[in-house]
Amino acid sequence: MNIIETENKYTSGLYAKQTLTIVRGQGASLFDVDGIEYLDCAAGHGVANLGHAHPKIAEALFKQASTLITLFESFPNDQRAALMEKICGLLPGLDRVFFCNSGTEAVEASFKFSRISTGRKNIVAAMRAFHGRTYGSLSATFNKKYREGFEPLVPGFCHVAYNNIEALDKAVTDETAAVILEVVQGEGGVYPANVDYIQAARRICDERGAFLIVDEIQSGFGRTGRMFAIQHYGVTPDLLTCAKSLAGGVPMGAVLIGRNVKNLTPGVHGSTFGGNPLSCAAAMAALTVIEEEGLPAQAEAKGRYLMEKLKKIESPNIREVRGLGLMVGIELKQKVAPYIKALQEKRIIVLNAGMTVIRLLPPLVISYEQIDHLVDLLTEVLATEQKDE
Ligand SMILES: Cc1ncc(COP(=O)(O)O)c(C=O)c1O
Repeated sequence: MNIIETENKYTSGLYAKQTLTIVRGQGASLFDVDGIEYLDCAAGHGVANLGHAHPKIAEALFKQASTLITLFESFPNDQRAALMEKICGLLPGLDRVFFCNSGTEAVEASFKFSRISTGRKNIVAAMRAFHGRTYGSLSATFNKKYREGFEPLVPGFCHVAYNNIEALDKAVTDETAAVILEVVQGEGGVYPANVDYIQAARRICDERGAFLIVDEIQSGFGRTGRMFAIQHYGVTPDLLTCAKSLAGGVPMGAVLIGRNVKNLTPGVHGSTFGGNPLSCAAAMAALTVIEEEGLPAQAEAKGRYLMEKLKKIESPNIREVRGLGLMVGIELKQKVAPYIKALQEKRIIVLNAGMTVIRLLPPLVISYEQIDHLVDLLTEVLATEQKDE
């Protein structure tokens, strides 16, 4: 079978397909059909924080798959109970959890919980925000590229400038159910929030009786140097959404729920696959690995090392280097697409964040040698202006 031709024939058409077929992963490396190694600085859009093919995840999956894969959450289960206890011990004040299967589902649930709990309708989100592609999440997502053609979106949503306390202060009223913020905007260009902004968001929400939702789908599970990015800010949200690397690469989402959230009674919300024992076993293994291998501390140290090196690159094409931990953006003065292609030709896989930002989300297990290699090749590629053919 010709893999590329077959995918091109049967694809929905929703993805701009690469001409590179990946069949295997190991740590921070991916391998193509011919066994050629690529350095993965995308981690499946921030999913593979533990690296690829982690033996502890494989072992947990094998064991649980041969025990019990599926069970609706109305029946208690050993794997789910253990994970619930573990995940609710991560952030003081967030001591209940709803499990689902993806990031966008976690965001949807956080909006439903906010509305049912406060009896209010309005949600305030930020410009440049990305929260997912289903209707509620899409209504909170800012970029019109994702929204156009899908209107009418859900009523009650508005967007305000990010990192702007005055704009948030004006937008939040006594009819606001929730404010939703990424602590580091990912898709929107890798912009970390200022500490005073997040603290002001907490204060404004408290004053007006609105919830603060933090979307940690991309920034969670060690990526920014703490288990959750919000821990850099000394603030407890009412709801925290997570997914991506929660279960070591197995699809899973979750909402951590604060003490003021009420009216979550049987039937109000739910999910067929949510909290299935297979995903729960994988997530438990992932959280154990994150703690045992000290991945947040690794992300902090490696992120600092990477950013220092990136800031030393002398290139007329770089506008700014920014980020938190191993969530790093390199903003260029021109479009990044040809640079990303040039890097891929040198066997480095990176992401974009919008048109002008190269986004680096490597597995947190990336080695210092691999970071040096990445910086060497970035330096080479960024030395000259790359143009679209
Ligand atoms: C911050 C943020 N929220 C939500 C989502 C949506 O997650 P999913 O693609 O799992 O639905 C993403 C995905 O990139 C994200 O980065």
